Amino acid sequence: MACFFRKRIAAKLGRTLQQSDDVFIPALAAIPVLKKQQPADFKLSLSTLRINGILPSRGDIQLQTDNLASQLKQDSVVEDISAGCGVINFKVNRRLLAEKLLEPFGKGEDEKFGLNSELFNTLKKGTTLVEYSSPNIAKKFHAGHLRSTIIGNFIANLKESLGNNVIRMNYLGDWGMQFGLLGAGFGQFGCEEKLKENPLQHLFEVYVQVNKEAECNEDIKKAARNFFKQLEQHESQAVSLWQQFREITVKEYQHVYKRLGVHFDIYSGESFHQAQAQEVGQQLQSQGLLKTSDKGTGVVDLSPDGDMSSVCTLLRSDGTTLYITRDIAAAISRKENYCFDEMIYVTDKSQKHHFYQLFHILLAMGHSWAGRCQHVSFGLVQGMKTRTGDVVFLEDVLDEARMRMLHNMRQSNTTKELENPEDTAEKVGISALIVQDFKGPLQSDYKFDWDRMLQAQGDTGVFLQYTHARLCSLMQRNKDVAAATFDPSLLHEQTCVTILQHLLRYDEVLYQSAQDLQPKHLVNFLLKLCHFIASAHRELPVKGSPLDIAQARLQLFSGACSVLANGMRILGITPVNKM
Ligand code: ARG
Repeated sequence: MACFFRKRIAAKLGRTLQQSDDVFIPALAAIPVLKKQQPADFKLSLSTLRINGILPSRGDIQLQTDNLASQLKQDSVVEDISAGCGVINFKVNRRLLAEKLLEPFGKGEDEKFGLNSELFNTLKKGTTLVEYSSPNIAKKFHAGHLRSTIIGNFIANLKESLGNNVIRMNYLGDWGMQFGLLGAGFGQFGCEEKLKENPLQHLFEVYVQVNKEAECNEDIKKAARNFFKQLEQHESQAVSLWQQFREITVKEYQHVYKRLGVHFDIYSGESFHQAQAQEVGQQLQSQGLLKTSDKGTGVVDLSPDGDMSSVCTLLRSDGTTLYITRDIAAAISRKENYCFDEMIYVTDKSQKHHFYQLFHILLAMGHSWAGRCQHVSFGLVQGMKTRTGDVVFLEDVLDEARMRMLHNMRQSNTTKELENPEDTAEKVGISALIVQDFKGPLQSDYKFDWDRMLQAQGDTGVFLQYTHARLCSLMQRNKDVAAATFDPSLLHEQTCVTILQHLLRYDEVLYQSAQDLQPKHLVNFLLKLCHFIASAHRELPVKGSPLDIAQARLQLFSGACSVLANGMRILGITPVNKM
């Protein structure tokens, strides 16, 4: 395991500098394989040792580096130690590198690879509540909701892999004036049949139509306000229609989430926090935090000087609550019900200010745990369109991804005979969507591009799937060759060493992702792994090689395949075995 070497090197440093071994762990990094040849495997950054107070921060850093390097003695595990520019490089024994990294594979422990690294010791374990997807019933499920869905799923998967107890929550936009319009409009434009057939589409159509009508028709507006008021007063007819809308749309969403491989432990929503939101108003009042504005609205002063130059509105002049009031109530009730140690919200960056205000007000109310709430934001997707037009429903995007992928697979001459080509095309299509989305920093906007994301050779989800399927097929074909043991000294070629060195970084990459919650580290690690695997396929044949060499190579391929599959699953991608 990677940690075996890290521990050994840390122990060596601990002895030499008479410190506890643990302090060296964060300063040690596996060296990224940039060019093909990389003589050393780990590096120690002297500036990190200085920052952490292990070495004096005065004096010439290079002198310190050279000094320390000369004190460290090589041994049978760490074969070479050399000073670089502010870093010390460590090269480990090649046979041990292969043995320690590859021995866990094929023993039922494949899924744990890298996950019990001591790097994770400093990460807080506990209950993490991740809120993601959170579409608005009756309104359009836009590209932002797709991003929130896959990003939140990734964060939840990552946290879970690292040993946290994760609660996955969907917070539906299931309350507000849109239901007034919908309720009023449904009587006029709605159709029960269509609602059963294609609920999201139909509700959206009704919503669009009634909105248009309301522009020039005061009666409709009045009816909408009326309906919403009935809802807020829990009048049974209005409530039962609302309930019907909610239930069928949730069912529909669940169907799409299933296709995406996403699930939720809890379907919550704004509607759950009506009454509590009113209480929040009272609490703020009694804490002296609620002020009345000139317009008669209830506001909280967020200006640094307390001069009302920046306020947040929590109550309308008629006393009704707003989006943020419900969010305050929801956060407090989640803390009470789920006792989370941290909570993560995933939405597009237009809501940054909203969450800034939310956390701020919670803190002002004395909820110190709001300091452990975090908003993960992301940029816009431009040009997400299906062939039929502009309106994007998630379902249509998934259908189109599947259709395009199926078409590409039919064109390709490497495509295998498949039991269920649609299912494979769906999984591969979705991985293409995910990788396109995860490659860059989440904050960046990007242009949605069907052709580019579906390329088989580029840095795409298709390439990840193709590599995985190819490895599976190699192992399948050589089932009889694989053995319980292998001779690690037979994996001495540079191509092998490169893959092994790359695998050494897996725990660091997960650590990095856990720190900043950005999937790009893991995506780029896996893409690079696939490029190395492609070279290995060319240069390290299994078929036709002597049995012991074939066995050792298969062990390498099997390890690479497991790490690839594990990483893909964390990203939210279901690896296919054949394509
Ligand atoms: N439904 C909201 C929207 O589509 C997103 C909800 C985000 N979560 C929250 N707790 N406010 O814009």
